[in-house]
Amino acid sequence: MDEESRIAAVSEVPEDGSFLFTVRDGFDTEEAILVRLTDGVVAFENYCPHWRDIRLDKGSGATMREDELVCEKHGATFESDSGACTFGPCEGAVLEEVEVAVDDGDVYLTDDRYEFENRGPSGDHDLSSGGRIGFSGQ
Ligand code: FES
Repeated sequence: MDEESRIAAVSEVPEDGSFLFTVRDGFDTEEAILVRLTDGVVAFENYCPHWRDIRLDKGSGATMREDELVCEKHGATFESDSGACTFGPCEGAVLEEVEVAVDDGDVYLTDDRYEFENRGPSGDHDLSSGGRIGFSGQ
């Protein structure tokens, strides 16, 4: 596996919550989350299919109820293994999966659409620096 596509150790992915990371698609970045399953991990893009500007993980782990991810905005629930919405305003929708693979205890990004950018949130949400932008507009 390519070291540049290593996201995290499986052991870093919480059993009750999610591990936030950022991927790059050309000039754009997208956030994604790793979710622990009984037999590995799965990754989804970090937004709710009901309102795409609502993040499931706002930086401290997505809310989990039993084995389901919960969108705190309107309470939609998603199966953690399939991403299928089982309840809520987007019932029937499915979270967009991001392909990852586990090798020797580490999780790697294997999705052809993306390159691994960084662990944690994308700069778009870094409010502490006053709304950082991705280039130095002089
Ligand atoms: S924005 Fe997620 S349920 Fe409405």
